[in-house]
Amino acid sequence: MPSDHPWLTRLAGRFIAFEGPDGSGKTTQFRRFTSACAEAGVTVCEVREPGGTGVGERIREILLDHAHRDMTLRCEMMLYMASRAQLVEQRIRPAMAAGQLVAADRYLASTIAYQGAAGGLPVADITDVARVALQGCVPDLTLLFDVDEETSASRMNPLLDRMEAKGREYHRRVRKGYLDQARAGPDQFRIIDAARPAEEVWRSMMDSLRRRFA
Ligand code: TYD
Repeated sequence: MPSDHPWLTRLAGRFIAFEGPDGSGKTTQFRRFTSACAEAGVTVCEVREPGGTGVGERIREILLDHAHRDMTLRCEMMLYMASRAQLVEQRIRPAMAAGQLVAADRYLASTIAYQGAAGGLPVADITDVARVALQGCVPDLTLLFDVDEETSASRMNPLLDRMEAKGREYHRRVRKGYLDQARAGPDQFRIIDAARPAEEVWRSMMDSLRRRFA
């Protein structure tokens, strides 16, 4: 069957990150997007953070475990970044070199929004660590699924993990941290209004991508 979105083939060799607060619906859109790419004949390397490698999945367990309430903010930031360093070397760079599309469910913008804007770490400290960990491997485009706190809270699973359980005020700062990054880097980011029904969010996201790459 021919693809509904033949222009997706232009994304081969690119790196797209999906970002947004918990409950923004980005993972639903991410899954639909990777299926549409596969239908269009694009080989997609899908990665999720924290995790995406054997080492990264172990780091993920530590990060999301309620037993580690005493984890310091610097430790938390460096664990996210350590998982990402492994992901870059083991999966992202090889996939891009092979001409695949890399689609990431979260990346560096998450650390700047969560540990930086919401947690309180200076963004310069995070970008210093990112320079060492990522060695310049950054997305061609980051899609920010923006949603107000009321809508995102209503979409969250009542069984919250350690990060989701941090409360309203923390999540309000996460949202602002994302929006500030997007406004500071309009070439690298597209803001998608994710409070709307999923079908509308999908159309607006695909429009943004088509305009940028087709
Ligand atoms: P996950 O269950 O994967 O959430 P989601 O489906 O929303 O991506 O959990 C990831 C959690 O980790 C989420 O609350 C965001 C947080 N996080 C950070 O705080 N910093 C980071 O650098 C990353 C990648 C995630």
